[in-house]
Amino acid sequence: MRICVIGLGKIGLPLAAQYAGKGFQVIGCDVNREIVDSVTKGVSHIKGEPELDEKVKSSVKNGLLSATTDTVKAVGESDVIVVIVPLVVDKRGNMDYSIIESVTNLVSKGLQNGSLVIYETSLPVGDTRDRMVPILEKSGLKAGRDFYVVFSPERISSGVMFQYLREIPKIVGGIDAESTRRGVEFYERVLDSRIIAVTSSEAAEAVKLFGMIYRDVNIALASEFAKFCQAKGLDVLEIIKASNTNPHSHILNPGVGVGGHCAPVYPYFLIKNASDLNVDLILAKNARKINDGLPEYTVNLLVKELNDLNGKNVLVLGLAYRGNVKETFLSPSISVIEHLKDKGANVYVHDPLFPREEIEGFGAKFADLQDLDPLDAAILVTAHKEYEDLDLKDLRERGVTVIVDGRNFLDKEMVEKHGIIYRGIGRY
Ligand SMILES: NC(=O)c1ccc[n+]([C@@H]2O[C@H](COP(=O)([O-])OP(=O)(O)OC[C@H]3O[C@@H](n4cnc5c(N)ncnc54)[C@H](O)[C@@H]3O)[C@@H](O)[C@H]2O)c1
Repeated sequence: MRICVIGLGKIGLPLAAQYAGKGFQVIGCDVNREIVDSVTKGVSHIKGEPELDEKVKSSVKNGLLSATTDTVKAVGESDVIVVIVPLVVDKRGNMDYSIIESVTNLVSKGLQNGSLVIYETSLPVGDTRDRMVPILEKSGLKAGRDFYVVFSPERISSGVMFQYLREIPKIVGGIDAESTRRGVEFYERVLDSRIIAVTSSEAAEAVKLFGMIYRDVNIALASEFAKFCQAKGLDVLEIIKASNTNPHSHILNPGVGVGGHCAPVYPYFLIKNASDLNVDLILAKNARKINDGLPEYTVNLLVKELNDLNGKNVLVLGLAYRGNVKETFLSPSISVIEHLKDKGANVYVHDPLFPREEIEGFGAKFADLQDLDPLDAAILVTAHKEYEDLDLKDLRERGVTVIVDGRNFLDKEMVEKHGIIYRGIGRY
């Protein structure tokens, strides 16, 4: 079995390395020549992914992993084609299909009798069958008769790829029973996790979107609980922890907001799908609204303590949307910076993963934790590991009187011990 992985990004390269690690011949395709050259040399261009450097190096060395920009040729030499290029989406969920459609056109040009094409890129329900199959059939081959098509959502996350590849069951749904059967057979050979077949590609597409919306709604609910606790003088974390001792309760932790390419965006796929069917996903829509409002809510916690932010120096800890990941797409930090500036604050930003130029690109002053300007307050937005050892004594000496902990991440007692007021999300 020869496998072609199209899109050697944060997800595609680890997948290629995983398949090669199982002893299969893998060709990775990418439009980016630098990425192809780097992989060809056995060097991963993705940083901070445990196990990846070693797996890419050894797979290339033993001749199982190669890379190319020639997708048509690679598809022509492969039995299984895995597509994991992005579907570009703006913050309202408007989709730009140009990349995935142009890749699908290339696949159709190289497609061979008997091949299996798998889409792993998150897609709206129905797209595999209604949008991708007609393009693939430009090959002159008939889906379900001459070649097979599967949707299998990628539910893993960058930064923990190989751990999740082992732990999270793989969902497989084909455009017909034979496609599903072949998809299951493929994943059983290349993964160690449990493989779960669902009855259609539409069901598999929906699995990913339902999971994302469940999470978004859960976070919105947790943040409403947080607001209640804030008003009532209760600690939301204590209550959530106790509540979750009931096996039917799975409340997540509230926070400063939801960012990244997935969680804030994919709900709109299903919201659009549903509105085409005259189904109104009220909870999903409201969760988006509530979660988009969390950065402003967090800034207002600071306003409550300082009364007026005009002229105040506020340090924002973290630019990334998620701890220990260098990604700012829809990061709550960007919204926090905007709200602070709207209120007249001088905004300083620190993030261990971002250099000065990138931070200044977001209209904030660069903060060096070793050499801070005088400050009035701080807001923690990203739970970076580095902030576990935040120098609270130094922050107090620089003038910080309040810390708003947007991730309920810091040790409240420690903060207060240093003479700093602590405010978490739903915590007094
Ligand atoms: N990043 C995550 O944590 C995550 C988690 C779950 C699912 N996903 C899914 O995986 C998809 C890809 O995410 P990613 O993080 O790997 O993206 P990425 O931006 O890191 O990588 C995408 C790769 O595709 C390449 N590419 C773009 N156009 C191409 C083309 N025409 N032909 C070949 N290659 C092309 C890019 O050069 C890049 O290397 C997402 O759209 C999403 O559906 C991502």
